[in-house]
Amino acid sequence: MIYLWLKAGHILFVIFWMAGLFMLPRLFVYHQEADEGSPEAARYAERERRLIRIIMTPSIVVVWVLGLALAWTTGAFTHGWFHAKLVIVIALSGYHGWLCAYARRLAAGERLLPGKTLRMLNEVPGLAAVLIVVLVVVRPF
Ligand code: HEM
Repeated sequence: MIYLWLKAGHILFVIFWMAGLFMLPRLFVYHQEADEGSPEAARYAERERRLIRIIMTPSIVVVWVLGLALAWTTGAFTHGWFHAKLVIVIALSGYHGWLCAYARRLAAGERLLPGKTLRMLNEVPGLAAVLIVVLVVVRPF
């Protein structure tokens, strides 16, 4: 019973986290289209800060806590699919950290990447989600 509640919570917070990972680079694109130092740019910096603080940070923490609790409950630590999933999830968490750093630098006026590259970044969580869902559902190894 506890396993099913953990899994329901895990999947819900995965959805929230992924939504944030998809949305943040999109906000960066609009932010960078606004003139530097303009009130519009400041509004985007605030939106990014709130998305990270209210949605993304709590979600990544809950996904990790419930995911590790699930692994402990089911004994997943001994399975190949779980090791592969962990590698991808650690990489995705690194991507999350990189996005947060980019948001801070953007708020300080630094525009490091062109809009086209930022748009392409949305492939990262999409690809990770495909691989992770196949690993946890199909369990090919
Ligand atoms: C952050 C670290 C994570 C850990 C430690 C973790 C761990 C786990 C574990 C142990 C299970 C239970 C598998 C079972 O039923 O035996 C599970 C289920 C699941 N995880 Fe994660 N997970 C993490 C992140 C993610 C992410 C980022 C996604 C999607 C992008 C995801 C998607 C899923 C799905 C869809 C299930 C349900 C699979 C089923 O129907 O049995 N997880 N996770």
